[in-house]
Amino acid sequence: MAFKKLVSIQEIEDGKLTVIKTRHFSVAVTKWENEYYAFEDSCTHDGEEISCGKLEGCVITCPRHFAKFDIRDGSVLALPATEPLTVFPTKVNGNDLEVDLESV
Ligand code: FES
Repeated sequence: MAFKKLVSIQEIEDGKLTVIKTRHFSVAVTKWENEYYAFEDSCTHDGEEISCGKLEGCVITCPRHFAKFDIRDGSVLALPATEPLTVFPTKVNGNDLEVDLESV
């Protein structure tokens, strides 16, 4: 495990997405029911920025062809995507949200 600070928890709003650009890709983070979630900001169907889609609870809908994913584990809830969203483990350390981007 290689948890590193990604963002301050003050920058994350309940039910809203915050996008952080890393060197290789963008990561979307959010808080839902007192848990923090982080996932790659790329739809597995055709690479759309999934953070531009609609987040309802733990379900995000891709804006391009409307695939749905569960942000807790990345699982596909609706086609046309067939591969899960890439999700990353998170943990809170003081005021920081740490994410293990090397876990996948
Ligand atoms: S790019 Fe997301 S459903 Fe097609």
